[in-house]
Amino acid sequence: MAQEDLFKKLVAHCKEYGYVFQSSEIYDGLSAVYDYGQYGVELKNNIKKYWWDSMVLLHENVVGLDSAIFMHPTIWKASGHVDAFNDPLIDNKDSKKRYRADVLIEDQLAKYEAKIDKEVAKAQKRFGDAFDEKQFRETNPRVLANQKKYDDLHERFAKALNDNDLKELKQIIEDEGIVCPVSGSRNWTDVRQFNLMFSTEMGSTSDGSSKIYLRPETAQGIFVNYMNVQKSGRMKIPFGIAQIGKAFRNEIVARQFIFRMREFEQMELQFFVRPGTELDWFEKWKTIRMKWHQALGFGEENYRFHEHEKLAHYANAAVDVEYKFPFGFKEVEGIHSRTDFDLAQHEKYSGKKIRYFDPEINESYVPYVVETSIGVDRMFLQVISAAYCEEELEKDSRVVLKLPPVLAPVKLAVMPLVKKDRLPEKAREIIDKLKFDFNCKYDEKDSIGKRYRRQDAVGTPFCVTVDHQTTEDNTVTIRYRDSMEQERVTIAGLGKIIGEKVSMRKLFEKL
Ligand code: GAP
Repeated sequence: MAQEDLFKKLVAHCKEYGYVFQSSEIYDGLSAVYDYGQYGVELKNNIKKYWWDSMVLLHENVVGLDSAIFMHPTIWKASGHVDAFNDPLIDNKDSKKRYRADVLIEDQLAKYEAKIDKEVAKAQKRFGDAFDEKQFRETNPRVLANQKKYDDLHERFAKALNDNDLKELKQIIEDEGIVCPVSGSRNWTDVRQFNLMFSTEMGSTSDGSSKIYLRPETAQGIFVNYMNVQKSGRMKIPFGIAQIGKAFRNEIVARQFIFRMREFEQMELQFFVRPGTELDWFEKWKTIRMKWHQALGFGEENYRFHEHEKLAHYANAAVDVEYKFPFGFKEVEGIHSRTDFDLAQHEKYSGKKIRYFDPEINESYVPYVVETSIGVDRMFLQVISAAYCEEELEKDSRVVLKLPPVLAPVKLAVMPLVKKDRLPEKAREIIDKLKFDFNCKYDEKDSIGKRYRRQDAVGTPFCVTVDHQTTEDNTVTIRYRDSMEQERVTIAGLGKIIGEKVSMRKLFEKL
């Protein structure tokens, strides 16, 4: 199936099964804003727990924070967001559609990559086991030609971004013959900068209201609380502050479902270190974060690091963790070495000392910071696109969400075979025992086969069926979502079987 079709099906599936809804749908929707349904909110909460506990429970020197969304407006001046949190935008004069100039060029780069991959896949099929991919990539003329186009464009693009050269970005779009996906024309406006922050007013006008911003990242709430946490927690460097919370960006192009949203949630860690050690810590956090992703079992080959073409105004090193989405490798998480930029700026703008006295070297300094920053929603999309599966079976087919059981919204569905003979009561007794530890659902509607399919589509890893034998010997069948195998087990043993499979501890032991 074409990856585009797969993605459309995934979006439809998320709506049909109560994962994600368009915001304000009955009013025709609000662009790039989404609501999470009954299953979506559970999956989201499980992702957040996996992240939070992996940071705060597993690292003795990481503590949490929950700072407000509204903050003093000078914070955003100090952080550089008022002046520099911009995206380069371009309009197509025929379709009147607006695009991010950098994204148009990135898509062009992805096209060259896709052409190379296609050649490799074709050759692989032709030569079978004898295929030497490395040699093919180094010698095939079509691969080499596309690689050269990619490298030349990449170099030119990186330079234009680093020089903030908007004219050159437009020139690249023209030279590459990039067309508007809607009108098909090359009738472009000039490229302009567009600030992504939303603003609003605080206080009534008669009081003298002031312009404030909806935070575009949670990180600044951590920086401005650095001294509070360090002092009250008697924290010793190196230490980290973790936070999960909403962020808002007036994205120019809202695309790809929950990949790029205007209201989203971030999970961020700011890790404070001694100056000069930041690049070592940057490498350490790269390794820790990649392990966190790969422990979910979606295949190591589907992840990669991507170096930034342009460093953000605050960074001296930066890398993205990318995942192979149905629309290609894209960023899920950013890891930045932010130097002392933010704390030094807040020191300057607030007039308050933001320092750490390091007893080991008998010196006072502004700490350096390594940041890991991941979008909850983007992680949600990563998990759900990796889990979505269409399977042909002997007699029919099924759609199944092969979610890691630890993240699945519902851990088990309990089903009486028929709605009589005290089987429903027995099923409810089982739920009453297990509901303290697991999210359980009772399901008695339709045939057992239909109920299994419904639970597969939701991603429930275990279905427990109560039949007449249950009333005699207190055993049930447990059916496993991925293998569809069934076995007969005692009711008393259910907690242990399920508990082991959905244990977050097991996941943490892999980190
Ligand atoms: N504090 C650093 C920071 O915010 P970023 O690379 O702009 O860095 C970090 O964002 C992560 O937040 C991204 O890797 C992505 O997962 C998520 N993110 C950023 N913008 C987003 C958007 N418009 N919609 C959904 N997630 C977004």
